[in-house]
Amino acid sequence: MSALNTAGLSAGFSAAPSGTAQSGTAAFNAAENAAMQAALAAAAQGPRGANPLVGAVVVGTDGTHLATGYHRGAGTAHAEADAIGQAKAAGRDLRGAAIVVTLEPCNHCGRTGPCAQAIIDAGITDVIYAVDDPHDPAAGGAVTLRAAGVRVRSGLAAEAALDLNRRWFDAVAAKRPFVTLHIAQTLDSRIAASDGTSQWISSPESLADNHALRGRIDAILVGTQTVLIDNPRLTARNANGEAEGKQPLRAVMGYRGIPDDAAIHGADGNVLHLATRDPREALDQLFAHGVRHLMVEGGSRILSAFLAAGLVDELIVYLAPTLLGSGTAALDDLGITTLADAQRWEWDPASGGAVQVLGRDLRLHLRPAATADDADPAGPAATPTSSDTTPHRTGADTAAGGN
Ligand SMILES: NC(=O)c1ccc[n+]([C@@H]2O[C@H](COP(=O)([O-])OP(=O)(O)OC[C@H]3O[C@@H](n4cnc5c(N)ncnc54)[C@H](OP(=O)(O)O)[C@@H]3O)[C@@H](O)[C@H]2O)c1
Repeated sequence: MSALNTAGLSAGFSAAPSGTAQSGTAAFNAAENAAMQAALAAAAQGPRGANPLVGAVVVGTDGTHLATGYHRGAGTAHAEADAIGQAKAAGRDLRGAAIVVTLEPCNHCGRTGPCAQAIIDAGITDVIYAVDDPHDPAAGGAVTLRAAGVRVRSGLAAEAALDLNRRWFDAVAAKRPFVTLHIAQTLDSRIAASDGTSQWISSPESLADNHALRGRIDAILVGTQTVLIDNPRLTARNANGEAEGKQPLRAVMGYRGIPDDAAIHGADGNVLHLATRDPREALDQLFAHGVRHLMVEGGSRILSAFLAAGLVDELIVYLAPTLLGSGTAALDDLGITTLADAQRWEWDPASGGAVQVLGRDLRLHLRPAATADDADPAGPAATPTSSDTTPHRTGADTAAGGN
């Protein structure tokens, strides 16, 4: 335990003996568990994508929750900075306080400052986090915090924290973008009528939601056939139909070339032709271009190829109360011939919830159901617990940084 540590924390965050290994939730007291549950609930409010969902609770020396923060997506404040900022804005003195975080505080991050330093600067003396950040193993935030005399423990609610970002950890370990798959379909699972018309199956509210998502992702992907039939722009547009804000890289997958006059070229020419039919190869090329969050938008053969390859981390379905009876089915053959092999998905309550009503449509939000591999403690995302004196790292190195 550090010299700076835990004075006055008896009402909430009781100190474990110096150097004692922590394990699971049993090694942490009820107040610490409660703070972590609040941090996990806060984390789930953020958007899934290039960065993990992260929540943080600053706990005062009397055990009260001074502020709760969460990460709102790439380029925005990290959960710790959000919580510390709120507490400071409320005039709280954070000297001697504790912070409970669902992911190891970052040591170095790209677009925002390092959280470990922000914690040290705030005078916080006790850090509890759930799981290690798999980025940048050489320079973890826990090491920096300990070196500054901050007491650091980890492993509290590790299973829940790993599950929260299960597919993000997988994507990081595989060095590929996090993949969101989008389907705008009728009630009978059609994404276009038999004459090829598909604009618009969705309500204006669903389209606005989709354009907001386009403004957060790094890249958007369609098949060559969609470019040839729909001639889409694939820009993030406002309600007036004007391109607005950050624009994603526009990627087209397939062997055929893109016509010179295709609208997808746009004014900026920020287009990438992926001359492949292999989804993993496409992801590798996009990752090499710096893409960390990809939205796959269609059509059905591209959607099916990514689903069949198990390369979809998040599924968003805009379901319109419309029937066509014929036309292009949302999905093609997934290579499944018996129910036992069906792909299992689960409703995702994070990032806005499992079901939203958008105008006349339903927006369904799902993620792949957990598999036996996900529960394997030796799996790529597994994180051991740690003590004050036992720094450790897990996971893979990637070019991206922090939560
Ligand atoms: N409602 C919606 O949200 C939505 C969104 C997008 C599209 N759509 C509709 O979807 C329809 C197009 O769907 P689609 O299935 O015909 O075309 P698609 O999925 O857009 O493109 C299929 C083409 O992509 C290439 N390709 C790349 N990888 C492939 C793979 N693994 N397997 C098969 N082909 C691969 C092939 O062309 P190459 O010969 O060039 O390799 C193939 O012909 C259009 O009617 C469009 O309006 C609807």
